[in-house]
Amino acid sequence: MLSPLLPLTEEQREIQRVAREFARSELAPHVAEWDREAKFDRSIVGKLGALGFLGMLIPEAYDGLGLDTATYLLALEEVAAVDASTAVLMSVHNSLPTQMLLQFGDDAQRERWLKPMARGELLGAFALSEPEAGSDAASLQCQAVRDGDDWVLNGTKSWISHGAHADVILVMARTDRPGARHGSKGITAFVVTPDLAGLKVGKKENKLGLRGSETVQLVFDDLRVPPANVLGEVGRGFIYAMQSLDNGRLGIASQAVGIARAALDASVAYADDRRQFQQPIKSFQAIQFKLADMAVRVNAARALLHASAAMKDRGEPITAYGSMSKLLASETAMWVTTQAVQVFGGYGYVKEYPVERYFRDAKVTEIYEGTSEIQRIVIARELYEGR
Ligand code: CAA
Repeated sequence: MLSPLLPLTEEQREIQRVAREFARSELAPHVAEWDREAKFDRSIVGKLGALGFLGMLIPEAYDGLGLDTATYLLALEEVAAVDASTAVLMSVHNSLPTQMLLQFGDDAQRERWLKPMARGELLGAFALSEPEAGSDAASLQCQAVRDGDDWVLNGTKSWISHGAHADVILVMARTDRPGARHGSKGITAFVVTPDLAGLKVGKKENKLGLRGSETVQLVFDDLRVPPANVLGEVGRGFIYAMQSLDNGRLGIASQAVGIARAALDASVAYADDRRQFQQPIKSFQAIQFKLADMAVRVNAARALLHASAAMKDRGEPITAYGSMSKLLASETAMWVTTQAVQVFGGYGYVKEYPVERYFRDAKVTEIYEGTSEIQRIVIARELYEGR
């Protein structure tokens, strides 16, 4: 057993323990069923809220826990190691809609939405992607047109995690005219709530993994949004979304580390139990080398992630390091879970053991909140910054 690489404070140890206990008691007994039935259990939101886990990065003045990023990521890793679906809900809520309201919202918006979101009474979602705008997020087409003081939204948003259950949805829409497009500068962020007429839930996706997290399309059909729901400045919505994704990518990296760690732990235990050729398979170097390489990658991914989190908490820019963390952690998760299936052999390919779920859950971490290819573009651009 390796000792943990990160020096943790007493508070961090305690929050890690609470998260681990929550994951074991509230998630572990149900996770296989949620995966099999593609079932999202809304009661988990209240339970996360009661622990303060939906306001981890929000200052106490806004009813959050006011924790640093590292502590939040430690809790997220514990949840992800048991249920990656609950982890993505935690990550999206903590990193995207709440951070957008905190950083770019006005006092009234923080009072009305951020505080109850931090207490876990309202669930937040983030709506940027569209059927024809994924990696090229600035090409989104959802249109907002001014009508008196209001804005009227039409369009479709895709891949919205827990979108059908969200109470506060941060929506990026075009506010430039169809004849005069201004690219990323023609996009504004709006707060959309389910009580507004014209919001419909569209297709529910039938996914390979992360099946306990419900992913839907949201359709806006003449959805009328009052001026109080415009976030920050008109035309700044793309920048707000990108800045929030810098945080979001740390969350997804932690989710990926959690999945990879679970696959490593399961493999270590299995290689001890499983006997072939009259000995436990852990005595074969072919298996030892796999386990060693898996452990190296999990620890490297976590170390880069926590170094990036510390940079963020020092107020330094983390666009490149956030992308590096997400890239390394997600590719680690995919590689480690693939090795885990191999260590388990035939038993890794069936639902009797959880490693096939880890393998399926890992894949999306290489795709959402920016594909691995987009992370490489972001990193490469930063290498030339200021030259
Ligand atoms: N922070 C602040 N500003 C940023 C920024 C950042 N991280 N990234 C870009 N910007 C700014 C730029 O400085 C630029 O501003 P100016 O015009 O004032 O100079 C503006 O935004 C436009 O930037 P780019 O020219 O770089 O824009 P681009 O069109 O080339 O796109 C991209 C850049 C990195 C490819 C971006 O489109 C991107 O990240 N794509 C991936 C989209 C993504 O991650 N989607 C995730 C969906 S959400 C999700 O998955 C949630 C879920 O449910 C799990």
